[in-house]
Amino acid sequence: MIEISQLSNLRGQLRRWRAAGETLALIPTMGNLHAGHLQLVRTARQQADRCVVSLFVNPMQFGEGEDYASYPRTYEDDKEKLREVGADLLYAPSVDEVYPKGDRGRTRVEVPGISEILCGASRPAHFVGVSTVVCKFFNMIQPNLAVFGEKDYQQLMVIRQMVEDLCIPVEVVGVPTVREPDGLALSSRNGYLTHEERSIANCLYKTLLKTAAAIERADSDYPRLEEEASTELKAVGFRPDYFSIRSALDLSTPDPDAPELVILSAAWLGKARLIDNLRVTRNTPV
Ligand code: PAF
Repeated sequence: MIEISQLSNLRGQLRRWRAAGETLALIPTMGNLHAGHLQLVRTARQQADRCVVSLFVNPMQFGEGEDYASYPRTYEDDKEKLREVGADLLYAPSVDEVYPKGDRGRTRVEVPGISEILCGASRPAHFVGVSTVVCKFFNMIQPNLAVFGEKDYQQLMVIRQMVEDLCIPVEVVGVPTVREPDGLALSSRNGYLTHEERSIANCLYKTLLKTAAAIERADSDYPRLEEEASTELKAVGFRPDYFSIRSALDLSTPDPDAPELVILSAAWLGKARLIDNLRVTRNTPV
């Protein structure tokens, strides 16, 4: 696996691959890699000739008081995992390389509407940081496709909308969430959980499953289902930011008979803000 930290070197290498007619997949990450990330790499390897992983803890997507400084940086471990899973190139630029003139007062990419709800309501600067850095990586690497986890469902939708609105010629591929055996979605932030918190962390997924089962039984009183789920999460020790049933197509508030839904939640457990989601298809009577 080739390791590169400078954009000029990256561009030289990518030019050689493109000249040989090879297709490129990009997996953008912030490191501290787990099995979910490695699944993204495997998917990328099936769909492109060369697989480029970016590793960059993006300051622009962290708000004041959030965990930018303490975000786990595990470069050597990450490198080993990527080598084992068969990534071709690791691009790990410095903050100065990505934001040579700083990340304030410069051009930014804002995807309105969808960036302002759910996680965007609790973290107002988050998605503009995500869409800006992903757009920059798309321009730096010009991949044929880019692979993202469906655990960050709203992020995936923000990126899809950015690509559509800006006519960016990159295919965006979503990969299903990888879970621990007890259902907890893998996340770089799970490491913040204490032993005791970890033992109840899968209640988030269990609550999503229970709500999905109610919807599948044709319960369409979504405000009540959301309220019940939040109450259950609080009862076991979570501090929910939101628990919300939305249209899977655009995250709008669904009509009672909308068939394609997604249940999304973000909830604090101790120092960890966990997010998860579950798609549900409502059975429509024929
Ligand atoms: O999902 C992440 O790890 C980050 O938001 C991303 C897409 C790498 C952008 O920094």
